[in-house]
Amino acid sequence: MKSLHRSLSLLFIVVCSLSWVSASANSHDDFLECLYSYHPNESSSITQVIYTETNSSYLALLNSSIRNLRFSTPNTPKPLVIVTPLNISHVQATIYCSKKHGLEIRTRSGGHDFEGLSFVSPVPFVVIDLVNLRSVDVDVENEEAWVQSGASVGEVYYRINERSTNLSFPAAVFRTVGIGGSISGGGDGSLFRKYGLSADNVIDAQLVDANGRVLDRRSMGEDLFWAIRGGGGGSFGIVISWKIKLVHVPSNVTFFSVGRTLEQNATQLLHRWQYVAPNLPNDVYPVVTISTTNASENGTKTVLATFISLFQGGADEFFPLMQERFPELGLVKEDFIEMTWIESLLLMNGLSNETSEILLDRSNRYTILPPFAKSKSDYVREPMPEIALQGLWLHLLEVDEGGTAVLNFFAHGGIMEEISETETPYPHRKGTLYKISYVIAWQEEENNNSQRYISWMRKLYSYMGPFVSKSPREAYVNYRDLDIGSNNYYGKTSYKQASNWGRKYFKNNFDRLVYVKTKTDPKNFFKHEQSIPPLLHYTS
Ligand SMILES: Cc1cc2nc3c(=O)[nH]c(=O)nc-3n(C[C@H](O)[C@H](O)[C@H](O)COP(=O)(O)OP(=O)(O)OC[C@H]3O[C@@H](n4cnc5c(N)ncnc54)[C@H](O)[C@@H]3O)c2cc1C
Ligand SMILES: *[C@@H]1O[C@H](CO)[C@@H](O)[C@H](O)[C@H]1NC(C)=O
Ligand SMILES: *[C@@H]1O[C@H](CO)[C@@H](O)[C@H](O)[C@H]1NC(C)=O
Ligand SMILES: *[C@@H]1O[C@H](CO)[C@@H](O)[C@H](O)[C@H]1NC(C)=O
Ligand SMILES: *[C@@H]1O[C@H](CO)[C@@H](O)[C@H](O)[C@H]1NC(C)=O
Ligand SMILES: *[C@@H]1O[C@H](CO)[C@@H](O)[C@H](O)[C@H]1NC(C)=O
Ligand SMILES: *[C@@H]1O[C@H](CO)[C@@H](O)[C@H](O)[C@H]1NC(C)=O
Ligand SMILES: *[C@@H]1O[C@H](CO)[C@@H](O)[C@H](O)[C@H]1NC(C)=O
Ligand SMILES: *[C@@H]1O[C@H](CO)[C@@H](O)[C@H](O)[C@H]1NC(C)=O
Ligand SMILES: *[C@@H]1O[C@H](CO)[C@@H](O)[C@H](O)[C@H]1NC(C)=O
Ligand SMILES: *[C@@H]1O[C@H](CO)[C@@H](O)[C@H](O)[C@H]1NC(C)=O
Ligand SMILES: *[C@@H]1O[C@H](CO)[C@@H](O)[C@H](O)[C@H]1NC(C)=O
Repeated sequence: MKSLHRSLSLLFIVVCSLSWVSASANSHDDFLECLYSYHPNESSSITQVIYTETNSSYLALLNSSIRNLRFSTPNTPKPLVIVTPLNISHVQATIYCSKKHGLEIRTRSGGHDFEGLSFVSPVPFVVIDLVNLRSVDVDVENEEAWVQSGASVGEVYYRINERSTNLSFPAAVFRTVGIGGSISGGGDGSLFRKYGLSADNVIDAQLVDANGRVLDRRSMGEDLFWAIRGGGGGSFGIVISWKIKLVHVPSNVTFFSVGRTLEQNATQLLHRWQYVAPNLPNDVYPVVTISTTNASENGTKTVLATFISLFQGGADEFFPLMQERFPELGLVKEDFIEMTWIESLLLMNGLSNETSEILLDRSNRYTILPPFAKSKSDYVREPMPEIALQGLWLHLLEVDEGGTAVLNFFAHGGIMEEISETETPYPHRKGTLYKISYVIAWQEEENNNSQRYISWMRKLYSYMGPFVSKSPREAYVNYRDLDIGSNNYYGKTSYKQASNWGRKYFKNNFDRLVYVKTKTDPKNFFKHEQSIPPLLHYTS
């Protein structure tokens, strides 16, 4: 019975795929025809922003913001067309024609999606790449800015700093992360314990909905405005730009980074860190990066925990604070380095020898990790016992030479503890000690690397189950992970099915997201493997 069911589903998939193949050649031409005729005026001619496989720059454009080569193999499905809008009318035309000719749209800002959902789809699709829409208009006097989605966080940091070194925005740390995707899923960085997530600091937005309407906060209403600030990208429309609230940064910030191996009591120190870090003042951004390294004396592998913190203020204040709160770490005065805010951003990107212009660079070329990767996330609400950390080390030490495993523990607390769980869709607030990001990265596709390292990651995730948040086991939507569940692409996605992964990302906010989706995009035009499903939706 089970196998019959399986053959039937397979048959269904095959039949559907076949019909798509035959349909796609035509829908492709019809789609282009539609775009050209939608936009007859030379002034904002759409032909200059349309790329198909016949254009020589198609592949370079597609590649330009692929950050994970798992999604850049010969077998990875490619978009029929890439549109790089210069104007909202180009976005509207693409929505209109995609709908008319049965193509799906994937929207890409910075391309960092951990599952490649902004540029890969199992059905014939078009990519709207917002690379040309990346202006940053800073209003120093009112401490606000309008930022287009295609800007990277590096560009946003740079443009604000150019106008005022005292102002900034709480955004992701990694400079090439897109504003469009990161705000859509929350966005945390070195100011989030003081000011909240990027999404917590958005005051207006310009969105194109499934009907091609251009909406702002007032015209979209508070429900939709709530949903787009953390409900995950690609579900509700295409956000063209965001009006953000700027925040104050001091002239000097202070940084330290010290590594401790197992032989240097890394286990006990990390155990203690779980009690100390979440309770540090809002001005501190405490992170621990965990990797493996060769022990210096005999070349035996060991675990290295690097304790990193950035403080919004001077060393004269930060050093005594750390001595009081975390004497076990054995910090000395020389560990504390003062610098400007913008220098701290370079440092945290591993670019301390560069000038700040490097923040404008959108390429991958300074990435430290190998280019193939699989990631996951967890939130921790009870300190892990030392014995559990020791078990974690065994997993890390098991990784062979070809793989690089990195875990980051990002302390929560601060203002994250005070913002209500329902304020935005991001629910991981009160009671969260820290977030873990797990990454395994490797150099090559061969030797079954993907299979091997991904199963290692799944094993690690299963090991961690007892020590992290439960019912639901929470996860960060910006660290997209299809292992925790996905929509049934070829049939109907039930609310119940989606709520499995939905509650991990959003807890009970998932229900409001489904409500907003049902109200604003009942036919599920904007969809992907983990988009919010509308109620009573049936695809065929
Ligand atoms: C190396 C690296 C470092 C990272 N560091 C951090 C960090 O410090 N803090 C943090 O919070 N996160 C971090 N992330 C995660 C990052 O925030 C998410 O991957 C985020 O979704 C990336 O946004 P993007 O615009 O670059 O991605 P994209 O891949 O372009 O988009 C991600 C998702 O949002 C959708 N989307 C994109 N633009 C729009 C739009 N304009 N309107 C509607 N939907 C849209 C896409 O369709 C896709 O579903 C990091 C990721 C990587 C790979
Ligand atoms: C094209 O331009 C003409 C003249 O500028 C204008 O009247 C018309 O509305 C434009 N059409 C579109 C579709 O933008
Ligand atoms: C892609 O090729 C088509 C057909 O030659 C052309 O009309 C279009 O302008 C090209 N696109 C770009 C961005 O150059
Ligand atoms: C695009 O990326 C693929 C996979 O990494 C590579 O094989 C190809 O040469 C790249 N093409 C261009 C034009 O960059
Ligand atoms: C779109 O083009 C019109 C006319 O050229 C211009 O006024 C408008 O600012 C453009 N919009 C965007 C988002 O670029
Ligand atoms: C920036 O902030 C510092 C204190 O943090 C203050 O001394 C300085 O005057 C401010 N500069 C400007 C331009 O506001
Ligand atoms: C900032 O740091 C520099 C060098 O460390 C120091 O000389 C200066 O006094 C500091 N400025 C402030 C405002 O604390
Ligand atoms: C590790 O901890 C033990 C016991 O607390 C202590 O005696 C020892 O000096 C520490 N080692 C290091 C390298 O800090
Ligand atoms: C660690 O040691 C192994 C075996 O001696 C060696 O192959 C590897 O390159 C070393 N790794 C690093 C990061 O030094
Ligand atoms: C290597 O050195 C570490 C201490 O740095 C020690 O714990 C370990 O037992 C040594 N391994 C071997 C094989 O000598
Ligand atoms: C930065 O420059 C210094 C001195 O030139 C050099 O020792 C150091 O290795 C460089 N750091 C990086 C990350 O390139
Ligand atoms: C890859 O995995 C398959 C099946 O698990 C195995 O038969 C094959 O030998 C592996 N190839 C390599 C290069 O490890």
